[in-house]
Amino acid sequence: MAERSELIRSVKGTRDLLPPETRLWQRVEDEARRVFAAYHFQEIRTPVLEQTSLFARSVGADTDIVSKEMYTFQDRDNEMLTLRPEATASVVRAYIEHSIYNQGGVHKLYYMGPMFRRERPQKGRYRQFYQIGAEVLGSDHPLIDVETLEMLVLFLERVGLREYNLLLNSVGCTHCRPEYVKALRRALEGVKASMCDDCQRRAETNPLRVLDCKVEADQPMIDKLPRIIDYLDPECKQHFERVKAELIQREIPYQITPRLVRGLDYYTRTTFEITSGALGAQNAVLGGGRYDGLAEMIGGPPTPGFGFAIGQDRLVLAVQQAGELGTGDALDAYIAWLGEAAFAPAQKLARELRREGFSIEISPEPMKLKKSMGIANKLQARFAIIIGEGELKGGRYQVKDMASGNQQEVGPSQIGAILRQKLRYLSAPAAVCTDSDE
Ligand code: HAM
Repeated sequence: MAERSELIRSVKGTRDLLPPETRLWQRVEDEARRVFAAYHFQEIRTPVLEQTSLFARSVGADTDIVSKEMYTFQDRDNEMLTLRPEATASVVRAYIEHSIYNQGGVHKLYYMGPMFRRERPQKGRYRQFYQIGAEVLGSDHPLIDVETLEMLVLFLERVGLREYNLLLNSVGCTHCRPEYVKALRRALEGVKASMCDDCQRRAETNPLRVLDCKVEADQPMIDKLPRIIDYLDPECKQHFERVKAELIQREIPYQITPRLVRGLDYYTRTTFEITSGALGAQNAVLGGGRYDGLAEMIGGPPTPGFGFAIGQDRLVLAVQQAGELGTGDALDAYIAWLGEAAFAPAQKLARELRREGFSIEISPEPMKLKKSMGIANKLQARFAIIIGEGELKGGRYQVKDMASGNQQEVGPSQIGAILRQKLRYLSAPAAVCTDSDE
């Protein structure tokens, strides 16, 4: 016999998503598609591989993402490629590359899929993680910001995340931000020597990043630094005021957070994050904002944009902790056939019910009734359909409700209708995560 080799494991910071948890992931994705469609967003799928320069230019060479966290390699033809750390830059690239702007108007796009950042793995932080994101391109109107936030709030409500905070800020634009950065540099001159090494470096290279610092000892100094919202020019201020007023109008609570500058350089004006106490240290469930200069950074025509990305790993975790999403995939029916003669009709029934959309399990092996019922229980089947010698003769099968134990005899052609009646949700999918079909 060959010697057993050492077990090959998954790469650090990556993980396998297994059933039944994958069902929760599907539910979140289904709900996102439903809510986003209601706001007229359409799906875009961009490659996982992009040219490195796409992220260097948009996310910013001096950000943690680009300077430390990207999976970058030289391809065989010497091209530098990167596994995308985020997808906003990719969406804007695609929008420019396919001249979608020529169609005029506003374009609303959403995406879901894996992103890659080489961060220190911990709960809620992975090297391969998943985002569900949406971007609106072609308008700088503040109501775009608000409508997109309204959509997000509806989505969070639908998946059952109730305890969260919307943190809101404005980071100004290329006209007013330089004034702020000057003031920040001046203020940092006085304190930077007492700050952490990273902040000392950031104070020189990209002072806004100092506001992101998580080092405890630096916090009192950072709290005293000038606030960007005090430096907004009249247009940025007006934009921010409208966003805030409309959020109040729509009863969407927010918390102004002047230090919220986000970890990517492309933002202008509105920035935001949603945090959830259920998550511990990695508490940002999602983040986003406006990026009116991004298209030009990557060689496109001026195209204002606004969007967000939800960390799906964290959202699922938060919703699981809130106990909102049930686990597991219920099986509609388990077909128990007793004796060889029952196999062909049982198989035929299974095929027909599956074609109708029911989830059905059937054993390839003959089994005693008791064992079959044990399996039906273990699989959490809602019904068991029993086909034995007597049922074959009478032409009517037993349909057993596994929860109540009630049993009724039904002709094979009626079974689909009976199941449908009892499993109403199948023909009329409710908002899956709310379970409010009573
Ligand atoms: P971001 O804040 O870098 O923004 O990421 C968005 C969300 O992705 C975070 O709030 C977090 O939930 C999740 N996330 C980030 N890194 C990890 C990780 N290592 N493990 C697990 N989850 C993670 C963006 O990516 C922007 N593209 C958002 C955006 C869209 N802005 C405008 N449009």
